[in-house]
Amino acid sequence: MPIYHHLGEIPHKRHSVFRKSDGSLYVEELMGNKGFTGPSSLLYHLYQPTRIKSLRHVTDLKWEADPSPNTQLRHFKTAGLPLTAGAVLDRIPLLFNNDLGALFAQPLAEDDFFYRNGQGDELIYVSDGEGVVETQFGDLPFRRGDYLVIPRGVVHRYHYTAQPVRFLILESAGYIRTPRRYRNEHGQLTEISPYSERDMRLPEALPARDQKGEFRLLVKKGNAITEAILDHHPFDVVGWDGYYYPWEINIEDFEPRVGRFHLPPPVSQTFEGDNFVVCSFCPRPFDFDPQAIPVPYNHSNVMSDEAIYYASSEFMSRKGIEYGSLTLHPDGFSHGPHPGKAEESLHLKETRELAVMFDTFHPLHVAKQALAVEDRDYYRSWIAD
Ligand SMILES: [Fe+2]
Repeated sequence: MPIYHHLGEIPHKRHSVFRKSDGSLYVEELMGNKGFTGPSSLLYHLYQPTRIKSLRHVTDLKWEADPSPNTQLRHFKTAGLPLTAGAVLDRIPLLFNNDLGALFAQPLAEDDFFYRNGQGDELIYVSDGEGVVETQFGDLPFRRGDYLVIPRGVVHRYHYTAQPVRFLILESAGYIRTPRRYRNEHGQLTEISPYSERDMRLPEALPARDQKGEFRLLVKKGNAITEAILDHHPFDVVGWDGYYYPWEINIEDFEPRVGRFHLPPPVSQTFEGDNFVVCSFCPRPFDFDPQAIPVPYNHSNVMSDEAIYYASSEFMSRKGIEYGSLTLHPDGFSHGPHPGKAEESLHLKETRELAVMFDTFHPLHVAKQALAVEDRDYYRSWIAD
């Protein structure tokens, strides 16, 4: 996270005396990845974050793959997935490998616990709904189209102000970051980046809670959930500063690129992780040469699997998809526009498509739960009338 940010009260010097009005010391905590060398922040708490009254193992969260070697172009309709009780514990895995898990949640109610993912960063695409994600670093109001970036270790809880809520959740083993080629040597996003620091929304309100009692914190680590009962409210931070915190950007603030002829998906890259990229396909004018074919050419994504989540029912090159569709085009097969789409596109001036693509450089498994909402004829849709 390349922007320095601070909120609330912090002492003039790091690791120095910083007292409350009653004369006692605030409690300093460093949170950051890669030990003491990655991006980090310093937080100042009312209470020591290590104050745990009890611990217990709650459940295992093992993602199970479809064991059949069903390698083909695939299509899943998330509209058919069951609603989930909350946003965390019963997320439905759809696709995953060791680098990335794609899950879906349609929470019926707010969780009555706080959550910390201790094994992965989370990138939440808000497909529907509105609310606030409350965190140790402050509040982040969210709305439809937002990407919420929640680095591992950040304690948070969702509060909803408009439902239904539909979350596409990407859990990443590596640090989710802005693409390297968009940044200069100082970390600033350059003029070639399709979004800038001005488009990023950072935590603004930091309401420190001074409450004692019993507070449930669920921690994900080792594909298991452990419950820690804290003796104080975990959002007791009066101030923090640094480069490590949750942030968000709306997909509408991603500026799509248009060329005289078709530009490839890398111009749509929005985030980078370890062994995967995330791209945003946004409404835009079509390519402007009179001879240009706006829809993409066929391609074989050798050494990568391509998954696309359709955040609207329109997609320039595809028929038969709907809002909430998720397609998987794995290595080993070609894919391309549906019949007629190339010719059709020649007369159009713009596309209203909205989609989130994640390309992984290692194969994705299909989770067992995705099979229930699979359109099994999808691979034949290029020869259908
Ligand atoms: Fe593709």
